[in-house]
Amino acid sequence: MRHFLTLKDYTKEEILEIIDLAFKIKKELKSDTPKTYLNNQTLGMIFEKSSTRTRVSFEVGMYQLGGSALFLSSNDIQLGRGEPMKDTARVLSRMLDMVMIRTFSQEGLEEFAAHATVPVINGLTDAYHPVQLIADYMTMIEHGKTKDPIIAYVGDGNNIAHSWLMLAAKLGFELRIASPRDYECDGRIIDHAMRLAETSGAHIRFYHDPKLAVKDADVITTDTWISMGQEEEKAKRVKDFKGFMVDSAMMALAKKDAIFLHCLPAYREYEVSEEVLEGPQSVIFDEAENRLHAQKGIMVWLDQKRK
Ligand code: CP
Ligand code: NVA
Repeated sequence: MRHFLTLKDYTKEEILEIIDLAFKIKKELKSDTPKTYLNNQTLGMIFEKSSTRTRVSFEVGMYQLGGSALFLSSNDIQLGRGEPMKDTARVLSRMLDMVMIRTFSQEGLEEFAAHATVPVINGLTDAYHPVQLIADYMTMIEHGKTKDPIIAYVGDGNNIAHSWLMLAAKLGFELRIASPRDYECDGRIIDHAMRLAETSGAHIRFYHDPKLAVKDADVITTDTWISMGQEEEKAKRVKDFKGFMVDSAMMALAKKDAIFLHCLPAYREYEVSEEVLEGPQSVIFDEAENRLHAQKGIMVWLDQKRK
């Protein structure tokens, strides 16, 4: 049995296998021949933070696959009142077929998974958002951006940046991350990615000047400057991220046919201008739709691994 906690645990072949499966399931849905791969299975979805895409894509994905999904807000379950992760994991494993968790610490998620006897999926932690990257790479494939691509991530060295690091390190592409000083990615995650890059051939570079990072890029991407849980730092962050908005001038430095990705939700005129977000290079809604297909690929893959 496997969990899906970080791309660190996955080989390049496995990541591509999940993506192939997600495309197969997407094609079946679009051609009106959907298959119910997870008949009568139940997914529990624990949310300790807000969500639109992750919640809806997992919930609808599970219904479309023939199963059902339970939304478990931490405000409503005993976890929110201090019941330990390890107890919750063992109880839910007796009743559910799979669990998705959106929580704060990666360690908490890993503790849950260590005690679960059903597959556990990371629906975002402070450290990683791996399900998002499956959808992002699918979107790159659909827009013809996977042949020796240069990806430029402009912004906070957060969970999304860390997930890009892992994806690049595993698949072996060029990734440039530009962040303001003091907002760089976690040093341990960088070290891990750099070690992996030695074998995969990934070129990973870090910048403080976003203009250098986006030069001739095939994909420009960013994320909010204020992640969930950082609301009190908003004023300081907005000041510190000055010059990091992806606007038309920045897009113009990339390749002419570069695409713009954003995991969403987006904050206009902060990390991205309205013009770029709504402009012709932006493929954010293809990316958002792919969340649905990606989650299905991940769930069906995990189900197949336990058989
Ligand atoms: N991108 C993403 O995970 O969106 P939600 O927070 O709406 O789930
Ligand atoms: N970095 C953001 C991603 C939201 C999908 C956050 O953690 O809030």
